[in-house]
Amino acid sequence: MTIDLSTTLGPAWFPAPIFTASGCASSGRELAQFFPLKNIGAVVTKSIMLKARPGRPTPRMAETPSGMLNSIGLQGPGIDSFIANDIPWLVDQGARVIVSIAGETVDEYASLARRLRSVPGISALEVNISCPNVENRGMVFACDPVSARAVIDGVRRTLGGDLPIIAKLSPDVTDIVSIAREVVDAGADGVALINTLLGMVINVDTMRPHLGGKTGGLSGPAIRPVAVRAIYQVHQALPKLPILGMGGVRSGRDAFEMILAGASGVSVGTATFGNPRAAIDIQTALGAILEEKGFTSLRSAVGFAHRNDATEMEGEN
Ligand code: FUM
Repeated sequence: MTIDLSTTLGPAWFPAPIFTASGCASSGRELAQFFPLKNIGAVVTKSIMLKARPGRPTPRMAETPSGMLNSIGLQGPGIDSFIANDIPWLVDQGARVIVSIAGETVDEYASLARRLRSVPGISALEVNISCPNVENRGMVFACDPVSARAVIDGVRRTLGGDLPIIAKLSPDVTDIVSIAREVVDAGADGVALINTLLGMVINVDTMRPHLGGKTGGLSGPAIRPVAVRAIYQVHQALPKLPILGMGGVRSGRDAFEMILAGASGVSVGTATFGNPRAAIDIQTALGAILEEKGFTSLRSAVGFAHRNDATEMEGEN
């Protein structure tokens, strides 16, 4: 039996359900030697800012139990170089491209959207309002409903109806559903759940913070239950809202878990550092699991864990 693995994130259609996670494969050049990028759903590029940016001081990474802390600090070439070099290269590969953008102000996000709106070959914008590696926690727009709304509203007004918007949200909030409602009201077509959790490692030999930026974003299998919970909660409250799930996925079973929770697509990030073929291997494994479970399409499995589930999560505590 052939399983239909195609999926949609709002108006954007993808032939396959596994995506790279922003920040874990830059613009895909290194991965392309391991598998054709066109064989996965899309490449989600490292969040790009208006100007070139060196990022945070080193060390920028730390291993943690079942996870990893990163403190990259949105290093990147800036939007001009990205548009000139990276998007055309990805389009040449036949890859679908989701461009992730990040800004320091609402206006910066809108300027990025203005630059990208007429660039050919982009399937959607991921609006990253949740990077934890910023000096000012007030810049984590996704931690405040008013700020989250303002960014998405500015991007949507700039784009008009031109490109789908996927708002990337932070798990470091009390009520992720309320943030999701705000960004949807402001014009987001979908949400990416979840970005990393803010964490920290102290080197007990030097007795100082290990990371140059002191704090970092926790990713990897340690955060997968947090991601599954966030996806489940948002899907339960907003069942029609497309969700791109991510956070610690390293097997077909992990991806299937996110689909059951309510994700329409799944991004693979940290696993790529250990196995650069992770995204394509996970996609193949997911197809086999769907078949084994008797699904004829990926879409029929989305949110399956909610079926006949009358129990409110709040009531379980
Ligand atoms: O530090 C970084 O560049 C991470 C970005 C993010 O997690 O969104």
